[in-house]
Amino acid sequence: MHAAEPPLRADQIQGNVIPGFNTDHQRLVGFAIHDVARARAWLADQARGVTTLAEVHAWRRGPKREGTWRNLCFSYAALERIGGPDFRCDAIRDPWFKRGAAKVGRSLGDRDAHAWPRADVLAILGDNDPRGLGRACADLIREAERHGLGKAYEESGTRRKESREPFGFRDGVSVPTVRGTVDGRVLARRRPAGALLADRLTATGKPLLWPGQAVFGYPGQSRVSAVAPGETASGGRSWMVDGSFLVYRKLRQDVDAFRAFAERAAHDLGTQREHVEAMLIGRWHDGSPVVRHPNAPGGYDAGANDFRYFADTPAHVLHGPGGVPIVVPPTPADPHGERCPHLAHIRKVNPRDAPSDLAGEPMALALQPFRRGIPYADPDGQGLLFLAYTTAIEERFGALVRGWVGLDLAPEAPSRTADAIAGGGDRPFVEAVGGGFFFAPSRDTLAALTRSR
Ligand code: HEM
Repeated sequence: MHAAEPPLRADQIQGNVIPGFNTDHQRLVGFAIHDVARARAWLADQARGVTTLAEVHAWRRGPKREGTWRNLCFSYAALERIGGPDFRCDAIRDPWFKRGAAKVGRSLGDRDAHAWPRADVLAILGDNDPRGLGRACADLIREAERHGLGKAYEESGTRRKESREPFGFRDGVSVPTVRGTVDGRVLARRRPAGALLADRLTATGKPLLWPGQAVFGYPGQSRVSAVAPGETASGGRSWMVDGSFLVYRKLRQDVDAFRAFAERAAHDLGTQREHVEAMLIGRWHDGSPVVRHPNAPGGYDAGANDFRYFADTPAHVLHGPGGVPIVVPPTPADPHGERCPHLAHIRKVNPRDAPSDLAGEPMALALQPFRRGIPYADPDGQGLLFLAYTTAIEERFGALVRGWVGLDLAPEAPSRTADAIAGGGDRPFVEAVGGGFFFAPSRDTLAALTRSR
């Protein structure tokens, strides 16, 4: 038995932080602030329309909400300028947030991050109706420009069938959900008590993390236990409570190079291209894990995270949609990477129970970001608008990308090479071509920002 899950201040937390908009269409609009006083007036208007956790959660359980959802976040430079001395931004703890993506780019292997367009404010708009979204976006930009803000960039994301990313894989399979309650009920439906991994995975198979991993002011993960709460997340200033950092990266994917690489490797290894691609990610295109299904795709189900690399997973039965039983056969461990290679993307970014350079499972869990990415396609190519919420950019996102994704011998020494898809090197399939670090404040802090001097 572990600690009770905390009530989430659902009318304060922005809705894309938790539980995530997950709409079919999204726009990211970056603005530069030219005149702080006029920008505050614009914010005062916009702050009232910010979509919260409470609204997204209610919509998922009830009738469809009409209209476009919106969230707002700010760079460090913008918080300093809008917040002024009252906000004492210098006391914010995260060094990477304060330095910004342009300066940190080199550590992440970015070739020209200093040349990316920079935004002070990032607006995230989501809607299932693309026309409604287009209108809301045009209104937003017009109003912003009337208040002395200039559009720095505008990106358009569209969810593909089965949430596939541009290489063709189902994405979001292992995006975590938070432990916490709204109106006295747990946010995400759980497996029945006594079911295998019921203390770690939701009914749909998503990993459970303590909310302080995503939102300030709540307990985060323990460093020694995968299920117990750890310390309360603090960003250094009390106004950061109920807020979250956002890492945004526009990641261009070279789909032809990825396919050609897999085709050549398949020829050399005497197998199919789809098999090589599955080994590079660690899942088949349909999201089924290669550890559980080494020879062919197994279909996507609530057991997509019921496997470990160092311990066997016994046979068990899950309840699928409508209570239909899903029989999960036993899944043996794969410590030597015979079914899921050590360089596979999902093994590099989450070695699960395997011993790593940073210790074991509790640390691997503590590094997991709350990914909210969506594919884009524009005249310069296609890829992911990668969005990840966290309460520690350098300590976690930095450790994941600079450390595990980028290093040959980490997290598991036998990996011998960087991440198969996002690690660069001789497999330059993914390149960051834009992005920034932002802070998504609570609604109260948004209101306070508009009043500060
Ligand atoms: C364009 C680049 C990328 C592509 C195409 C990509 C694709 C994928 C896919 C297909 C999955 C499996 C679905 C899932 O488990 O949710 C996945 C999982 C994941 N990705 Fe990426 N990804 C990319 C970049 C990154 C980056 C830069 C990070 C760094 C933080 C990252 C972190 C993760 C994590 C943490 C998981 C979950 C692994 C697990 O728990 O097993 N990805 N990614």
